[in-house]
Amino acid sequence: MRMYDIISKKRDGQMLTEEEIRYFVKGYVAQEIPDYQASALMMAIYLRGMDSRECADLTKAMAESGDMIDLSSINGIKVDKHSTGGVGDTTTIILAPLVASIGVPIAKMSGRGLGHTGGTIDKLESIPGFTPEIQNEQFIRLVNENKIAVVGQTGNLAPADKLLYSLRDVTATVDSIPLIASSIMSKKIAAGAEAIVLDVKTGSGAFMKELQDAEVLAQTMVEIGKHMGRQVSAIISDMNEPLGKAIGNSLEIREALEVLRGDGSKDLTELCLELGSHMALLGGVAKTKEEAWRQLEASISSGQALETFRTFIESQNGDGRIIDKPDRLPQASHIIELPSPYSGFISSMHAEKIGHAAMKLGAGRETKESVIDLAAGIMLHKKTGDYVKSGEALLTIHTNLPEYGQVNDQLLDAIVISNEKPISRPLIYKTIH
Ligand code: URA
Ligand code: CA
Repeated sequence: MRMYDIISKKRDGQMLTEEEIRYFVKGYVAQEIPDYQASALMMAIYLRGMDSRECADLTKAMAESGDMIDLSSINGIKVDKHSTGGVGDTTTIILAPLVASIGVPIAKMSGRGLGHTGGTIDKLESIPGFTPEIQNEQFIRLVNENKIAVVGQTGNLAPADKLLYSLRDVTATVDSIPLIASSIMSKKIAAGAEAIVLDVKTGSGAFMKELQDAEVLAQTMVEIGKHMGRQVSAIISDMNEPLGKAIGNSLEIREALEVLRGDGSKDLTELCLELGSHMALLGGVAKTKEEAWRQLEASISSGQALETFRTFIESQNGDGRIIDKPDRLPQASHIIELPSPYSGFISSMHAEKIGHAAMKLGAGRETKESVIDLAAGIMLHKKTGDYVKSGEALLTIHTNLPEYGQVNDQLLDAIVISNEKPISRPLIYKTIH
């Protein structure tokens, strides 16, 4: 087999065989295939595409390029959830205990990540004492006992994806749906998921700005799952404005507690119930979506969901007292309200710009080396469609930086106020199985 022939085949729009895809992935990880040939293939795929069978073969080859996590000693169907990334997306922190509380085993591996706020692990680390560094045996034991444990990413998960992503990043080939779908799915498969619920975001704050692209991405991942014998459900949800009201690590833990207690933001609660119902269905603890939804709501109102969260964080050395006293979470030294310059209806809140402002306040990492401020972030007081009076607070800034006024203009630019009430947008556009 020659790399040259694989490149020319894809350049001419032909399908690659499983052997060819495997040859390329193996050879690239082993550094036997140079970057220039791998780049040429990525560009050929970008321009010519791949069908779902090719995507599944690429997914499998990338997953098997490193460690494959074995969760077989955990009882029950291991359901994982993945979001394509949004602003202030607190769902994992809520969903993990919520779904575990009705019996779905959650064996979650999470990362720190770059972006507007930290990843799930950063958020959890804002809980005093919490440790994501647990040994494999303990991880398995905790999931079997409590139905939930969250561990930081260790080992060598899908190294082929890491290498190829860096290459795509500098060769203008990131925005290819077959490559994105295979990249996401390879990491979930390597992490041991038997069933996967995907939250594909669309809108100004999402990777997929257009609904149609989000649908194709979701469909592609569902089909990859079919080829690989994994059940996958995907929903397409709105990311034109930030989700919920909190953007920032410890602020999002507070927000998660509110949802688990039953008094969270409407949009965030609804999205969690929707995603949670699909997880419960795939996990086999409910027969219909309605039944799953009722079980999740009952767990919130009985306090079971919150108790599962307490058991979870205390089992990983976290201070469970934050549940009744959220003020024990890290707090910023400057907490300043941003008043609205006019009266009117909020007609849009640009998620990405608000997320970027939160990052500048210290909530996220601009580069891998940046130090994150777990207390920093933004609390929204208004959401799209709400009425605001001139001088009334739009949001509150939380930061430890003395120059906290630096993002005010950016935030005011991100929030559009008009005289007319905007037409409301759906939170969930579509479900794909
Ligand atoms: N996220 C991923 O994990 N992979 C991609 O290729 C793009 C976004
Ligand atoms: Ca939020």
